[in-house]
Amino acid sequence: MTNNKKTKVVMQNTISLDGSFINFETSQEVMGLHYQIVGSFGKVLYLFGSNTAKVAIEMFGGLTPETKDDFMRPQKSEDLSYWVVVDSEAVLKGKLHFYRRSEYCRDIIVLVSESTDKSYLDYLKEREYDFLVAGKKQVDLKKSFDVLSDRYKTSTVLVDSGRGLTNAMLNQGLVNEISLLVLPVIVGGKSENLFSNIAKQVKLTELKERTFPGGYIHLHYKIDK
Ligand SMILES: NC(=O)c1ccc[n+]([C@@H]2O[C@H](COP(=O)([O-])OP(=O)(O)OC[C@H]3O[C@@H](n4cnc5c(N)ncnc54)[C@H](OP(=O)(O)O)[C@@H]3O)[C@@H](O)[C@H]2O)c1
Repeated sequence: MTNNKKTKVVMQNTISLDGSFINFETSQEVMGLHYQIVGSFGKVLYLFGSNTAKVAIEMFGGLTPETKDDFMRPQKSEDLSYWVVVDSEAVLKGKLHFYRRSEYCRDIIVLVSESTDKSYLDYLKEREYDFLVAGKKQVDLKKSFDVLSDRYKTSTVLVDSGRGLTNAMLNQGLVNEISLLVLPVIVGGKSENLFSNIAKQVKLTELKERTFPGGYIHLHYKIDK
């Protein structure tokens, strides 16, 4: 997708000064800035991994039981972004209504593989979730993005996920731009480096840099191909 189609893939993360993507305080101010930057990319396919999705459910209030309405495809504004989750392991079985209900999410699309448990596919079909099967064990990300960009006529995929999904995408050459909000904090011993699973050096060209009050810095790079 990144080479022969017009869809751009942007990775957006918030990190500490020492590069950690977790184990810092996520205050309202930090969340506000993170989502302000996400919003600055406009209408996108908003992508994340299953572990990020699972953690976020707890972070943003926890799960409540499904109701009848959760079984139907919602009718929402066309201006909203579709959200896409990678989930070959069916981690989100029984949980997807949390996302379908979000006022910011047009609906959630699920990427699965040929190894995904059939009961998860039944769960998705019964609730009219759009899903795509690509890849044998894990999801074939490139193939999925090609299909999604055609199906949803999108110009930008924005991945807002942890190290697992972002590093897999970087290693497969599927990311065009990296957007980082750098916090004025050092995590130190509990730091988990966002880029520690990257297989080989990635060269970057700066597109934009902006400082926010409070010592926050937004860095935006293009990946040199
Ligand atoms: N600081 C930030 O900006 C930021 C942003 C988002 C999340 N987070 C934090 O990050 C943490 C979660 O990070 P994580 O790394 O554990 O989870 P993650 O990014 O959700 O990564 C796991 C996902 O990556 C997929 N994946 C991994 N390798 C793949 C490959 N080779 N091909 C296809 N799919 C692949 C997995 O798919 P399968 O399940 O199909 O195997 C799974 O969906 C949470 O604590 C969350 O709060 C931080």
